Amino acid sequence: MTQGPLAPTLPADLPDDPLHRAKAWLEHATAAGVQRNPNAMTLSTVGSDGQPSARVVLCKAFVPDPGYVVFYTNYRSRKVQQLTANPQVALTFHWDALGRQVRLQGVAVRSPAAESDAYFATRDRGSQLGAWGSDQSAELASRDALVDQIRERAAGLGVELGPNLVPVEQSGAPEIPRPPHWGGIRVWPSRVELWIEGADRIHDRAAWTRALDPADDGFRPGAWSGTRLQP
Ligand SMILES: Cc1cc2nc3c(=O)[nH]c(=O)nc-3n(C[C@H](O)[C@H](O)[C@H](O)COP(=O)(O)O)c2cc1C
Repeated sequence: MTQGPLAPTLPADLPDDPLHRAKAWLEHATAAGVQRNPNAMTLSTVGSDGQPSARVVLCKAFVPDPGYVVFYTNYRSRKVQQLTANPQVALTFHWDALGRQVRLQGVAVRSPAAESDAYFATRDRGSQLGAWGSDQSAELASRDALVDQIRERAAGLGVELGPNLVPVEQSGAPEIPRPPHWGGIRVWPSRVELWIEGADRIHDRAAWTRALDPADDGFRPGAWSGTRLQP
C-alpha cells in the first residue's frame, strides 16, 4: 500500500486526541515497510529499588478509544514482576525513517484472560510452544538445558518436535492451550508525547495529559489536554 507524505509538523491547533494520530503513524510505518518491526516499542519499568529497566516488546493492539496499547509476555518475567509492584510504566516508539517518536506514560494492567486466549489461538504452534518452553527472565545453566526443557515440555503437551525444535505437523495433533502465566498487558497512557523531527534540531513536540479514573474494566479516562513543547 502506498502512503501519502506525512505532515512535516503537527497542526497549529493541536488535535484533541493524540492517540488517533499516534496510531496513524504506526499504520504509516507498517504500510511503508520502513523497518522489520514497526510495532516495536521500548517498555520502561521501575524496580523496587527505583532503578529503571527498559526492553523492547511488540505492540499487538493499539486502541485509541478508550485508549490503551497491548503487548504479550510472560507474567513471571522481570518486567511483569516490576509492573505488578509498580504499574507506572513508559513506552516509546521510534520510526527513524519517518523521523517520528511517540512517548506514552501510564499504568499497566493485565488484559482480560479471554482476550489473551483469543490472541494466543491466532499464534502459530511454534510460538505457542515457545510460551510454554521458556521461563522468561529466570537464570539458565546452559543453552542445552533450555533445549532439554523445551523438548520435555513439548512432550508433556503431546507435541512432537523436529530437529530445529519446530513442532512436527501431525494430523490430529493436540491443541496447545495458553499457559496461565502468559498473556497480554494493557498500558493505559495518561501522558502522550508526539515528536516530529525537524531540520537543524527544530523539532515539533507536543504533549497531552488526561486523568485515568479506575473502573471495573480498566479506567474511565478524562478528556485529553495538549500543549506544544520546545524541542
Ligand atoms: C524486536 C523485539 C521484540 C520483542 N518482543 C517481545 C514481546 O513482545 N514480548 C516479550 O515478552 N519480549 C519481547 N522481546 C524480548 C524483550 O526485549 C526482553 O528480552 C524479554 O521480554 C525479557 O525482559 P525482562 O527480563 O525485562 O522481563 C522482544 C525483543 C526484541 C528485540
